[in-house]
Amino acid sequence: MSEDPTRPEAPEGAPPAIELCGVAKRYSGGVSALHEVNLVVGSGEFVALSGPSGCGKSTLLHLVAALDRPSEGVVKVNGRDLAHIHDLSRFRRLEVGLVFQLHNLLPRISVVANVEIAMYGTHRNGAARRARARELLDEVDLAGQAERLPTQLSGGERQRVAIARSLANDPSVLLADEPTGNLDAEAARRMMALFGRLRDRGMTVLLVTHDLGLAAMADRLERIEAGRIVTAGRPERPDEAGAARRALARDSAP
Ligand SMILES: Nc1ncnc2c1ncn2[C@@H]1O[C@H](COP(=O)(O)OP(=O)(O)OP(=O)(O)O)[C@@H](O)[C@H]1O
Ligand SMILES: [Mg+2]
Repeated sequence: MSEDPTRPEAPEGAPPAIELCGVAKRYSGGVSALHEVNLVVGSGEFVALSGPSGCGKSTLLHLVAALDRPSEGVVKVNGRDLAHIHDLSRFRRLEVGLVFQLHNLLPRISVVANVEIAMYGTHRNGAARRARARELLDEVDLAGQAERLPTQLSGGERQRVAIARSLANDPSVLLADEPTGNLDAEAARRMMALFGRLRDRGMTVLLVTHDLGLAAMADRLERIEAGRIVTAGRPERPDEAGAARRALARDSAP
């Protein structure tokens, strides 16, 4: 899985793509969503993150995307401490791709325009933006729906538009929050294969999923419980997969 000899190697001495050190997040109102989280994702790694509802997965992704700040600790992306980046909107637009749990498409413009919008303010002109948007929609099997409005698509199709949009500016880091949650098994498997191909091209992927079968397509599985990272393992190892499966069964028990 992770041993593909053709995959581009991270340059020697390159910093990890994602690094959280002693991170805590407390929301106003007193909710403590993360406690002392330490997590390192190497450049070009594909990591799946799982855990029960409310355990802090989306909070963690939002901190890495610089959509929110930690209450304590340091978050670094490609070696840069996010607390010291002045132009955070540029960072969000160009360095990280984020697929939100709620996909946040603009309802009144076409699917292809939703993807193009992510490229406003970059070097691409209108024609190049449109061409790139169509190429990405093709990559997520939506070439035929480009002119539709998001409201005319199924939930799973909208999710795939959000994936296409997140890739528009070739981010080095892709953060995906349950991107396969609304997809049928075959479409979910195809999306995971797409993330695997992106990893093979050198992109770092951190993906939240409840589906351990899908997580097994990643290089590594990390688990959060009640705001803390509790395991780190490779899902293909039967002992760890078994432990993770038992934990998931526990999560989904009524
Ligand atoms: N903006 C907010 N203000 C206050 N509390 C919040 C906020 N966002 C999340 N929380 C709380 O923080 C905790 C972690 O939430 P988070 O969204 O990170 O969970 P999650 O693991 O993504 O859950 P799910 O699997 O349901 O998406 C929860 O208790 C949640 O209620
Ligand atoms: Mg969430």
